[in-house]
Amino acid sequence: MNEIKEIKINLKDRSYKIFINDDIEKILVNSIEKILARPKVFIVTDENVAGFILPKIKKILEDAGIKTKSIIIPSGEKSKSFQSLEKLIKELLNYKIERQDSLIALGGGVIGDLVGFASSIIYRGIDFIQIPTTILSQVDSSVGGKTGINLEEGKNLVGSFHQPRAVITDVSLLQTLPKREIIAGYAEILKCSILGDKDFFNWLKINQKEILNLNNNLVAEAVEKSCILKAKIVEEDEKESGKRALLNLGHTFGHAIENKINKDGHGILHGEAIGIGMCLAAEFSVEMNLCSKKNKEEIIEIIKKSGLPTDLKDLNTEIYAEEIIEIFSLDKKRKDNSNTFILISDIGNAIIKDEISDDKLKTFLISNGFK
Ligand SMILES: NC(=O)c1ccc[n+]([C@@H]2O[C@H](COP(=O)([O-])OP(=O)(O)OC[C@H]3O[C@@H](n4cnc5c(N)ncnc54)[C@H](O)[C@@H]3O)[C@@H](O)[C@H]2O)c1
Repeated sequence: MNEIKEIKINLKDRSYKIFINDDIEKILVNSIEKILARPKVFIVTDENVAGFILPKIKKILEDAGIKTKSIIIPSGEKSKSFQSLEKLIKELLNYKIERQDSLIALGGGVIGDLVGFASSIIYRGIDFIQIPTTILSQVDSSVGGKTGINLEEGKNLVGSFHQPRAVITDVSLLQTLPKREIIAGYAEILKCSILGDKDFFNWLKINQKEILNLNNNLVAEAVEKSCILKAKIVEEDEKESGKRALLNLGHTFGHAIENKINKDGHGILHGEAIGIGMCLAAEFSVEMNLCSKKNKEEIIEIIKKSGLPTDLKDLNTEIYAEEIIEIFSLDKKRKDNSNTFILISDIGNAIIKDEISDDKLKTFLISNGFK
């Protein structure tokens, strides 16, 4: 890929660029000096990414005269915890990190969320750069500055808004990603199209198979289209007091399912839960007379064809409506004891719908496979 795609997120003094290409060396050599306050970085990554990608990144940076120190943490959602956060910060302090140094979050959404949060609180905030290595993190979690960790009570309940200094995206880094992770990450690409861009949705219908087979040019285009859409929303509503909530399409249902299933130890990936969450959001939109059955069917069809689960039957598990409603009660979008959902009026047009009662939800959930 000759050209490095660049997307600017305009947020006054917190503005930054997303660089997209299939050659990390090319992007880093072109951009890193301008981004760093001084040539010293702490690269935080997880065990899997450390094996596949870390040596390459370290070499590129060191060849460019940048001092590096790496910290490797266990892979997986369990690392988004207070315990890991404390361990990471202590390790950075033991390595004598200073305010002018930068952190690099090299990995998926787990690393990005944890490292972003750590960098927002060490010395009341230091710079960090995202190098996302999963589809989900390239199209979603690395962009927009939401950082955080999970509690036993729910996901992402503690966190901050802290924008990165840059997002450096090499789509060729996805080649080592397990197929299941590729499909799960693709759910966030579908989400972007469904919530805000019908042409993108139609383009995905044609190119879905090639994207899932990791054709670099098409993946880069899909990442670019998703990031442009996300950038526009984040620029309008950085701290999610309004429009940014649209990015949560499928997430209220999805998070609740993810929370419940992962507590029981079965294991569902974030994107898989979002796949079911988007189907439920489409069904609920029809139930609320907001969108047509045809739209709903088109949405469910593309999700199914991608290989994502589309309803509870695909998970071989029983979930009680009451349990899900209990989890909704901790949702950050809940106001005055009623629920807010992101629903759709058309493909490419999501809307925020609030004042949905627990009773209405319970009836809906039970008619959609919950106990
Ligand atoms: N901050 C946000 O705006 C935002 C948005 C969406 C999701 N999230 C969060 O993102 C997290 C999920 O992110 P994720 O799906 O990237 O999960 P992840 O970070 O756990 O990565 C998935 C798996 O892939 C491995 N991996 C990563 N890159 C790899 C590569 N290139 N090759 C081989 N293996 C690789 C990881 O080690 C891990 O086992 C969740 O915690 C979710 O809450 C945050």
